[in-house]
Formats: sequence, structure tokens, C-alpha cells
Amino acid sequence: MSRIFEFDTADWETAFSGDQRGMALSEIEQGKVLYFPKLGFRIAENEKAFLSPATVGKSKNVSFDAVSGDLHGTGPAVADVEALRSLMARFASQASGLVAKLLPEYGAAAVQGRTSFRPVEAAGRASSWRKDDTRLHVDAFPSSPVQGRRLLRVFSNVNPEGRPRCWRLGEAFEPMAKRFLSSIPAPLPGSGPLLQFFGLTKSRRSAYDHYMLQLHDKMKADLAYQAEADQAPFDFPPSTTWMVFTDQASHAVMSGQFLLEQTFYLPVEAMRDPATSPLKILERLTGRVLV
Ligand SMILES: [Fe+2]
Repeated sequence: MSRIFEFDTADWETAFSGDQRGMALSEIEQGKVLYFPKLGFRIAENEKAFLSPATVGKSKNVSFDAVSGDLHGTGPAVADVEALRSLMARFASQASGLVAKLLPEYGAAAVQGRTSFRPVEAAGRASSWRKDDTRLHVDAFPSSPVQGRRLLRVFSNVNPEGRPRCWRLGEAFEPMAKRFLSSIPAPLPGSGPLLQFFGLTKSRRSAYDHYMLQLHDKMKADLAYQAEADQAPFDFPPSTTWMVFTDQASHAVMSGQFLLEQTFYLPVEAMRDPATSPLKILERLTGRVLV
């Protein structure tokens, strides 16, 4: 099974053919990575100083909100915050344009989330097994419930030293979910509103979020699964871009430094085939409505 689907576009402004758009939609909804090996994000001469771990503080990421323009996570060494903000805004805009041109069926339903810059080496960065993204996982975040919405992410490797971003790509969502679901208890009644009340989540943690967090943890905690699950390594060289539903495609980041990432949230109803979404798969497997 190929986990990657390639496009040879070299220009962020490219218009895609109807065939290309149709393929992109069906492939990404099946959990594949849409890969643009010739599409690099250009770092201007005056921005090259940002390609340093000193660009971030303790958070290890610079985070940008394209709607408000808010920039967080910069280290004290960043002298020209406005130049960094403009880099982030440019990536946010190009990533957004790429999604709009390649996946126009999603249209305004794809809501732009945070843009992040990760200048810290990914290998050896984790402080716990749960945060260890070198283990295969699907994305789910404890404090940020999505209530079933999809997580669509666009990544660009901007490494200036010729180093790739090295991933592993795992098995499809459904066999993974089938393997772990029986060991996951149902959420405690009333726990979603309580977590929100005490400020532990930014919005209500739905039953869907509960199951996704548990799957994320069960995958990472199971070292036999990590070793034996159907998987393949894939290296994304510098000056390449890729996009994938990271809530669906099992992935692990083995190494790499200097990455730009843009998140989009997509309601399941906006998909061409909602039945392929983690929400609909989990509802079918549990026999429950989860949001
Ligand atoms: Fe991830």
C-alpha cells in the first residue's frame, strides 16, 4: 500500500486540473500524505537568522494566529519580531492558498488554525512517552478538543543544512482502532463539562476526543505495536511540502529540524466521504454517537 501521493507542482500559485483535485480529495480522505517534492517554502536572506533554536523559548515552537496576527513562543534572541511575524504570515497564506486550490470542495469549511515554526531537533526532544512523537500515533491533544472536526496539516521542511524530516507512516486508521478499542473504557459521564469547568480543556471534551486521546496513548505506550505494526519510513527532504489528515494517518517523526506547519480544522460534513473520518469509523465500531 502506498502511503504517499505526489504532485509535481513547483509553484504555490499553481492552478490544479479537475483530475488532480479529484485525486487529491480521494487520496487525502483515505489517509494518504499528499506530497509536493518540488514545492519549497522560500526563506528570504533577512530571515535566515531565524533558522536557529534560539528563535524559540521554552515552548520549542513559535506559534502564530493568522487571524489576529498574534505571535507566541519567540525567544529573547529574536531582535526583529516583525520580520518573523511576516515569515509566519507568508507561510500561513501560502499554505491556505494551496489547500484552497487543491481541495476547493472544502472551501470556507476548512478553518485556519495555528501556524507553527519548529526550529528544535525532533529527535530526543520528548520529555515523556506520551509526548514522544518518534512513536507512531494519530494526533489528539488533551487541552484542545475538536468534537469530531478533522485535523488537516500542511508541512514544509525549511532545513538549511540539507537534512530531511524523517517520518514513519503506519497502518490505516480502522485496523489500528480495532486493535486498541476493546481496551479503552467509555468516558465517565459528565467528565467533559468538568474538564472544561476546571480549565483543563479549551472547550468540551467529547466522547470522540476521549477515544482519540486514548488511541494516541495506547499506540505510543505499546512498544510491541511500535515495532511490529505495518509501517514504512519516509524522508521529506528540505524544500519540500506535504499535507495530511494527522488525526487519521498514523505517523511518527524520527528526526528533523526547522519545520513550518499550518493546521486547518474541517467539519466531517464538509468531506466528500465522511465515512472515512475517524469520527464515523469510531461511531461505527463503538455503536455510539460520539459528539
Ligand atoms: Fe503528530
